[in-house]
Amino acid sequence: MSRVELPSGEDPCALKPVEVTANAEQPHVVEFRGVSKTYGLGTPRAFTAVKDINFHVADKPGIGEFIGILGPSGCGKSTILRLIAGLTPQFPQTTGEVLVKGAPVTEPGPDRGMVFQDYTSFDNRTVLDNVAFGLECQGMSKKERHTLARDWIGRVGLDPVHDQHKYPHELSGGMKQRVAIARTLILKPRIMLMDEPFGALDPVTRHRMQDLLVELWRDLEATVFFVTHDVSEAVYLGDRVYILSNSPGTILEELQVMPPDRPSKVMAREKEFQDSVFEITNMLDKLEEGKD
Ligand SMILES: Nc1ncnc2c1ncn2[C@@H]1O[C@H](COP(=O)(O)OP(=O)(O)OP(=O)(O)O)[C@@H](O)[C@H]1O
Ligand SMILES: [Mg+2]
Repeated sequence: MSRVELPSGEDPCALKPVEVTANAEQPHVVEFRGVSKTYGLGTPRAFTAVKDINFHVADKPGIGEFIGILGPSGCGKSTILRLIAGLTPQFPQTTGEVLVKGAPVTEPGPDRGMVFQDYTSFDNRTVLDNVAFGLECQGMSKKERHTLARDWIGRVGLDPVHDQHKYPHELSGGMKQRVAIARTLILKPRIMLMDEPFGALDPVTRHRMQDLLVELWRDLEATVFFVTHDVSEAVYLGDRVYILSNSPGTILEELQVMPPDRPSKVMAREKEFQDSVFEITNMLDKLEEGKD
């Protein structure tokens, strides 16, 4: 694990800046420049959730990076994700710039897909129609979108024949989350924003979903921002991990961790992995202790 020099250059603990082999001519996939968000600005209830956030994810051709985001509850993780997604009321930011591929975010777009912790399927639609929903919005014919949706139902480990006709209330938590992932990935977003997507799953299902996500992510070459409270999950999935401070959140550390090139159960047994988890858990414990 090594620390990455933050854009401000103020990280006193920096061990070694990591070289980013990006094409200098390509705009960054995502960039935050001095971003702050104050809710209820101008009212007595004004509250600054995140402050002076600076980072960028370089565009590396053919590779999508996986960024894990960790931090104490209420430090602004969801706020950051929803600013990238262009979702109100988090969007727009109060100060600074949020850039996607060099252009300011102005609204949600098909280049950014979001997966939430609470399963966001439509209760009155079958698995097939839930997975096909985004394609339907794009005007794709029923036959074409259903063919693609059945393919994705299979790719996320559901049974395309039997599960396609089920409604969300007939699915387990893990199955619902598979539907949510298929619904997002079918649109092939360039950027995936995942807000504690596996938080409600049991440990075994969670490990399976982590491995599945890594497999699907490799094929799509998407840049993934993944918020979690589970340090092992962030260290396993992430190429990099951002650690946010207590509220108002700002990025305290940016750490390079081992890439997810082995199954999660194998990696969990390695010393380097365990050391990273231990070090980050300590940092987070200190942050929790420093809360009011
Ligand atoms: N719409 C809103 N209006 C006012 N305050 C808000 C709003 N949304 C979030 N906040 C506040 O901003 C802060 C950051 O919220 P956010 O949801 O981004 O935190 P988080 O890091 O995702 O927390 P958790 O880990 O609990 O999900 C919190 O104090 C929250 O109360
Ligand atoms: Mg949150």
